[in-house]
Amino acid sequence: MSYKLSILTYIDMYIELKESIFQTISDIISESGNESYVIGGYVRDLILGRKSKDIDIVTLGSGIELAKKVANKLKVKKVSYFKNFGTAMLISDDLDIEFVGARKESYQRNSRNPIVENGTLEDDQNRRDFTINALAISLNKDNYGELIDPFNGVSDIENKIITTPLDPDITYSDDPLRMLRAIRFASQLDFTISEESITSITKNKERISIISKERIAEELNKILLSAIPSTGFLLLDETGLLELIFPELCALKGVDVVEGMAHKDNFYHTLQVLDNVSKSTDNLWLKWAALLHDIGKPKTKKYIKNIGWTFHAHDFIGAKMVVDIFKNLKLPQNEKMKYVQKLVSLHLRPIALVEDVVSDSAVRRLLFEAGEDTEDLMTLCEADITSKNNAKIKLHLKNFELVRQKLIEVEEKDKVRNWQPPISGEEIIQALNIQPCKEVGTIKNAIKEAILDGKIENSHDAAYDFMIQTALNLGIYKK
Ligand code: CTP
Repeated sequence: MSYKLSILTYIDMYIELKESIFQTISDIISESGNESYVIGGYVRDLILGRKSKDIDIVTLGSGIELAKKVANKLKVKKVSYFKNFGTAMLISDDLDIEFVGARKESYQRNSRNPIVENGTLEDDQNRRDFTINALAISLNKDNYGELIDPFNGVSDIENKIITTPLDPDITYSDDPLRMLRAIRFASQLDFTISEESITSITKNKERISIISKERIAEELNKILLSAIPSTGFLLLDETGLLELIFPELCALKGVDVVEGMAHKDNFYHTLQVLDNVSKSTDNLWLKWAALLHDIGKPKTKKYIKNIGWTFHAHDFIGAKMVVDIFKNLKLPQNEKMKYVQKLVSLHLRPIALVEDVVSDSAVRRLLFEAGEDTEDLMTLCEADITSKNNAKIKLHLKNFELVRQKLIEVEEKDKVRNWQPPISGEEIIQALNIQPCKEVGTIKNAIKEAILDGKIENSHDAAYDFMIQTALNLGIYKK
């Protein structure tokens, strides 16, 4: 055990252990005689000073029996049993507490589900993924609160190192999800992965094929939600995992040079944009939009003589690619995906409004299309300003302030951001005394276009007059 950690950490830990649910468990096991320990992520987070709501209790006996007794004592009515895994879970005081018998695991080549036998605390600690996740705290009366740290996990926490308790080739090959977990923890906690682990992940990367897409996406989401997500993506790239789980992102890598003209490396640019966005948001889907904003570039890249590199319509192609990427990673195919698509497809638009003479109509159209996501689009576009030249960044950001100003002014005047048609189809049918027909849609659309172009005011009266005029022109109404 290390003494470098702040003594306060241990005092906090002691108070937490003394006054909490742990005391209850300790009382119960002193009668039944089954040694029990708090283990894994909860202990790690306690030492890191992170509040965690998930508590894992390992017992040298039946986890299910212990859970029943604890539930009885705490008067918790609902206990979930997972008989196949020998585990039970209950919720008390907003804490999710899981009970499991200590186990020894052995793995087969084609599955990450181990064959399980009863084991000792040592067996249970041996089977864990990282030294920082193999820490246990005793709940037994004779050594209550003692930290059992056979692999120097505390020292690895202090030195900010992710490494495995056993031979890394065994740990990662047994359960290849751990390769992503290592990278995710490094990204979340700003830790370094040990050299042996990096070598082993690189060697075992192909084993990722036995992991479900859902689990991969879960880890990618956790990487995205970390403060500096590029840490995780760079490690995925370094170990070769990125190519296997996210080839579209890998395709952004590289710089081509023709006639002395080079384009920027869109992979590093994308990661910079993602880190920039992460400074101002925790919105997972805005982060996905940042990750995918240029995803259409490799498919649209072209060198045009005397002009240079172009990525024409990469916004449009990128938005289409979002669907396949979300499908493939089993990410939600709902309004979250549509939001990401929308931001990817609109990401070039605000910067186009920087020009001196930009019509109100262009601003109105952007407000109309971005709607309630206008603010998020602006956050993405500001993050998209990357350059080695700081003066250039400053100038762009200043121009962007002008765009924001224009957006505010036009919105105050025209209120098109959450635009609702001032005249419904129903009203058109009644006012013109016609049957439902395709001309109703034509008139509705003409009203919308006239408002966005600034030809008429965004009001009911103006829209009504315009409707009559359009109907006359279409020959479906006579005065
Ligand atoms: N564990 C493991 N191998 C895995 C997953 C989990 O060895 N593939 C062990 C680790 O000891 C881990 C514990 O099971 O600490 C609990 O796992 P889990 O709840 O998934 O993760 P946490 O470490 O608590 O972290 P997080 O909740 O952020 O995933």
